[in-house]
Formats: sequence, C-alpha cells, structure tokens
Amino acid sequence: MGIIGVVTVIISIFMGMSLYESNESEKAEPESQELHNIMRLLMLDIHTINEGIYTQNFDLIETGAANINQHAPLSDQSRQLVMDTLGERMAQFGEFDDVVHSYADSIRDAAIEKNMGRVLEQYRIVEQGCVSCHAAFQNEIRQARIQ
Ligand code: HEC
Repeated sequence: MGIIGVVTVIISIFMGMSLYESNESEKAEPESQELHNIMRLLMLDIHTINEGIYTQNFDLIETGAANINQHAPLSDQSRQLVMDTLGERMAQFGEFDDVVHSYADSIRDAAIEKNMGRVLEQYRIVEQGCVSCHAAFQNEIRQARIQ
C-alpha cells in the first residue's frame, strides 16, 4: 500500500486505541462505594502485598500497593456520615489517609526497585497509618453507621 494507506492505517490504529482507552476508562471508572466496603478491599490489597513479601514476588507487591491508591471513590452517603461524625476532626482523618496513600506509592516504588528492605520499611508505615486511623475513628464511625 502507498504511504497514504500506511498513514491512514496508523492513524486509525491510534484513533482506535484512544477510543478503546476512553471506553476502558469509562468502564473502569469505579462506582462509588461505602467506606467499610472500601476498607475491606484495602485489606485484600494488604493481603496481596503480604503474599508478595513472603513469596518474594515483587509484581504482587507492586499490584497490591497500586490498588491501595486506586480504590473506588467514597460514596456521598459515607462522606456525609464521616463529616457529620468527625466535624473538625476531619483534618486528622485526612492526614491518616494521606500517609497511607503516599507510603503506598513508596511501597510500589520499592517493589519496582526490587528492594525488599525498603518495601518493609514503607509497609510498616502504611500499616501504622491504617491502625492509627482505626484507633482514632473506626469504632465511632462504625457505631454511627449501624445505629
Ligand atoms: C483515614 C482513616 C482510615 C485509614 C487510613 C484506614 N482506615 Fe480502615 N477503617 C476506617 C474507619 C473509619 C472504619 C470503620 C468504617 C465503618 O465501619 O463504617 C474502618 C474499617 C476498616 C475495616 C473493617 C471493615 C468492616 O467491614 O467492618 C477494615 C478491614 C479496614 N478498615 C482496613 C484498613 C486497611 C487495611 C487500611 C490501610 C491500608 C485502612 N483500613 C486504613 C478508617 C481508616
């Protein structure tokens, strides 16, 4: 085929890709979820990371860590519940959330470097972030949700 044919094919491949990608991202656009469901998914991500740590599978560690930062958005209902329950303490809630997110990124980076020592260092900080937020707020928000 002539050069125009080749260019047309290339352009249509790119257009197809971008169409495909935008469809994908619409499909992948997660439904919002309630907080406790997001939390259960976070726990699965932690399991994935753990499995990667104990089997020295850095791809699993990377996947688990990336998933922590890709959870579904919080439903409006859950957000409202948390805001009503915590009031001005929302700022502290947000700080714990930030710690978990930024150190999850660091776990991922360490996994890409295949550096187990660094994975563990960052993992402990993430775990501490989960547990600190729970110590401060889990029971209170759970009670507010189920009452
Ligand atoms: C910013 C605060 C915060 C952080 C950070 C946080 N959690 Fe939570 N988590 C909560 C709150 C609040 C609840 C209670 C939600 C409810 O019961 O409605 C909860 C509940 C849970 C539950 C129980 C869910 C259920 O069905 O009762 C699990 C499991 C959990 N979190 C796992 C994790 C893991 C794993 C991490 C870290 C990767 C984490 N959480 C980080 C605030 C946090």
